[in-house]
Amino acid sequence: MLIGSKLTPVNRNAILTKDIVPMSDQEFPLVTAFIYEKTGIEFKSNKKYLLENRLSPRLRELGCKTYKDYILYIKYDQSKKEFHRMSSAITINETSFLRNPPQLEAFQNVILPKIVETAKTRVSNTIKIWSAGCSSGEEPYSLALLSVEKYPTFANSKQLQMLATDIDDEIISKARAGLYGRLTLRNLTPRQLSAYFKPSGSNYEINQNLKALVKFSNLNLNDSARMRLLRDIDVIFFRNVMIYFGADARKRIIANMYDSLRPGGYLFLGHSESLHGISKAFKLTNLGKCMVYHKEL
Ligand SMILES: C[S@@+](CC[C@H](N)C(=O)[O-])C[C@H]1O[C@@H](n2cnc3c(N)ncnc32)[C@H](O)[C@@H]1O
Repeated sequence: MLIGSKLTPVNRNAILTKDIVPMSDQEFPLVTAFIYEKTGIEFKSNKKYLLENRLSPRLRELGCKTYKDYILYIKYDQSKKEFHRMSSAITINETSFLRNPPQLEAFQNVILPKIVETAKTRVSNTIKIWSAGCSSGEEPYSLALLSVEKYPTFANSKQLQMLATDIDDEIISKARAGLYGRLTLRNLTPRQLSAYFKPSGSNYEINQNLKALVKFSNLNLNDSARMRLLRDIDVIFFRNVMIYFGADARKRIIANMYDSLRPGGYLFLGHSESLHGISKAFKLTNLGKCMVYHKEL
């Protein structure tokens, strides 16, 4: 899902200057502090235009004259609907199937076999993989596809639990639908495309076996109470999400992820991300063409 796809018919209008609700210099720190407190997402001072673009359609729809009014509206909205709409408007959902192939090869051929072997020694052989910040589903479906390719029995058993979470409800609905255009599928081989997808108009729909493997839900990674519910995870994919967070949020989220992992579990970050200055709890392990963070036994 590319950034531009946020420009739905409603908010595409916001691009027209006359439809932009200007954010004053006094409001900008109020808005960014609120967003940071609630989501961990940081907007630097050069991003005022972006927030205006993304949020103006929300203000117009609700009849809010100022951003201050809009923040108050969200604070008093007990249904939390507007918080979800705001989250959807400000997030960047760029992703694609089999993104960063060396990492995924290492997952399929090194990490997953290790986890499968370790799981045999446990009371329950369930394997839990979590795509945190899963966007429109390409990442968790890629992981499900690679896992089933390696271990075909995963397709018909409950042994593999693939959790996929995001703060953006709209993108989760897209992920659940499992319909994709050609561009995002570009890294798949023709064999993978025909084995795991069926054509649907000009798109492709992911097959039912893979769909059934992935459980999507809304989770704000900045919500430590909800993060505590996730336990005994074997592998976390937290790729290309942390770059949007501020320093405190990064530290808190990574500490929570450490607790969510089983001892012996693994954490994959995006290729431009690292835990430098964030956490010393993990061991950085070289997998040849990529690195992974390891929670030692
Ligand atoms: C650029 S996408 C990354 C998708 C995928 N992980 C990948 O690497 O292809 C970032 C995703 O993080 C989600 N996100 C941002 N802030 C979040 C938060 N506080 N909690 C949960 N998800 C968040 C966004 O909604 C977006 O879908």
